[in-house]
Amino acid sequence: MTTTTTDEQPTSVAVYPPHPRLVNPEGREKPWVSSMAEYEALYKESIEEPSRFWTRMANETLSWDRPFSQVSQGSLKDGDMAWFPDGRLNVAYNCVDRWASKDPSRVAFLYEADEPGQATKVTYGELLAQVCSLANVLTSFGLRKGETVAIYMPMIPEAAVAMLACARLGLVHTVVFAGFSSSSLAERVADARARVVITADEGLRGGRPIRTKAIVDEALKSCPDVEKVLVFRRTGNESVSFSAPRDVWWHEAVAAQRPYCPPVPVSAEDPLFLLYTSGSTGKPKGVVHTSGGYLLGAGLTLKYVFDIHDGDVFCCTADIGWITGHSYVVYGPLALGATSVIFESVPTYPDASRYWRLVEEHKITQFYTAPTAIRALRRHGDDFVTRCDLSSLRVIGSVGEPINPEAWSWYNEVVGGSRCAVVDTYWQTETGSHVITPLPCATPAKPGSATFPFFGVELAILDPTTGVELEGDDVSGVLAIKRPWPSMARTIAGDHKRFLDTYLNPYPGYYFAGDGASRDADGYYWIRGRVDDVINVSGHRMSTAEVESALIGHKAVAESAVVGAPDELTGQAICAFVTLKDGFETTDVLKGELVKEVRTRIGPIATPKTLILVDELPKTRSGKIIRRILRKVVAGEADQLGDLSTLSDPSILDVLITKVAAAL
Ligand code: WT7
Repeated sequence: MTTTTTDEQPTSVAVYPPHPRLVNPEGREKPWVSSMAEYEALYKESIEEPSRFWTRMANETLSWDRPFSQVSQGSLKDGDMAWFPDGRLNVAYNCVDRWASKDPSRVAFLYEADEPGQATKVTYGELLAQVCSLANVLTSFGLRKGETVAIYMPMIPEAAVAMLACARLGLVHTVVFAGFSSSSLAERVADARARVVITADEGLRGGRPIRTKAIVDEALKSCPDVEKVLVFRRTGNESVSFSAPRDVWWHEAVAAQRPYCPPVPVSAEDPLFLLYTSGSTGKPKGVVHTSGGYLLGAGLTLKYVFDIHDGDVFCCTADIGWITGHSYVVYGPLALGATSVIFESVPTYPDASRYWRLVEEHKITQFYTAPTAIRALRRHGDDFVTRCDLSSLRVIGSVGEPINPEAWSWYNEVVGGSRCAVVDTYWQTETGSHVITPLPCATPAKPGSATFPFFGVELAILDPTTGVELEGDDVSGVLAIKRPWPSMARTIAGDHKRFLDTYLNPYPGYYFAGDGASRDADGYYWIRGRVDDVINVSGHRMSTAEVESALIGHKAVAESAVVGAPDELTGQAICAFVTLKDGFETTDVLKGELVKEVRTRIGPIATPKTLILVDELPKTRSGKIIRRILRKVVAGEADQLGDLSTLSDPSILDVLITKVAAAL
């Protein structure tokens, strides 16, 4: 195994203690955790007395239809983990009814539409009625507990309504990011065996329409099992195709239903959703999350990591098509009864002030985004930020990839005015919620380090080759987790063996995260990047194998090898090497076609930034492509290629290096 990004941490880095105004607030509630000693005590309890700790947390955070008598069972060794196994609850009840009955006028969602100045509110009372009506529509389609519904929608409150309507009935949702192509959507709909797809006529992003329904129509040509498509009218463009009886308008269907629907209690271990994510092979995995453990993880991490109190306005800019949107736009905030911002637009529309105007207008108290957005906005200059009043902010978070110290400092000083806490949160689709993260009023931050484990998460650094745990501080290896935690994924839909082989069998007894990491002399964790064939582009996970198979789908391509190249803005960028079949010529037109092939097969997010046509790829004598060499060459480390004894034809290297230098 090789580490794809290996920025060494500086030997001495600045340490930023929490700002005093956060630790000892005036006129506001005390933080949930206000010192390292408090964090350590809670962490210790979570590890040494897990039963006591999790019983308290699960009962404080969630409302149970039937209390659980046992906190957890099963082990990482056997892959049979279960949390609160005999407890029953309903996720939508927990996220909506609890708050609607207390105060129906409390705001659940602040919806910031694509065009500025059009923000609207959805109160908990309104949300309850909408979720119930929609749940009744789904019931009228014949859907019953345990079935899967696919959601392919823009960033609008109705996307969350659709998720919660599923949860209310014990249906499993699978949200597909609306930037994925029709064939990616089709693959996921088919794998999840969804009979119903919920979508919108069109999306809007930065003033441009997105042909959402047309993409669904195209996808469903290869999904004969889909019986109903429920279409929310977002733009009202009349040219959008609509074919009854398969297609049903959301507004018409909902108008026919009563706005109350009893919540269906489910087992804590019943699945809440599947979310597809890229792995080392070409086939995306449907990661399965549960109702009880997942919701607890999402709510609890949000509460502690962003120090959420009544009246706070939380904004996470992630799309609901990703786990970050699931946990921190929808489930985490609603599990706490907080107000969550749903942002439909892009950070640079109409200009690079959009996020900061949003903060000013809605008095956002906690803001959560990705390093790639921070780096992009930093390039536009400080004025876009400083012209806005950001004094409402207390905690600003980062997620998706390591944040470089320059971006961290800009975020801290310019956005946070050096008076907020910056939380660099490390987690994954599979972990469900944060696993390594600072607590804003307790943890002294080191820019670039996600710092310490969240409650209940017992970390280990393993020697990648021997699997031996590296004890003590100042060690580097692969990151692993030593015991199950509530919000961890339980399986991969329809492929438990792949779940075991990917996460639990590589190092028996441990959850293997797929990242390299080190623990410094002070015990801080530093994430080093993926150690598998997954690359991280703008905080989105891409499988190199998936891009390769898209390229091979083009008739001219003989072979392809895809690697991540370091990129200032997106962290990593996709760099594709391709050899052509005989009879095909290297032309710009063909290169354009190949890039298009990837965009149509996977989606714009998989667009190769660089595409290099070569005569030969570096291979072993047995014909295996040596991607390590390509990675080194694109990283500008051609002088550190290491052991080349397995390379069958070393003479190709010079040409390769020249071509890469010309292309990058
Ligand atoms: C991979 C998970 C769940 C967050 C959104 C991405 C990388 C995530 C950090 C961070 C360094 C990070 C890891 C991880 N990653 N957060 N704070 N510092 N790396 O979710 O698509 O499941 O990707 O993102 O490599 O394994 P994902």
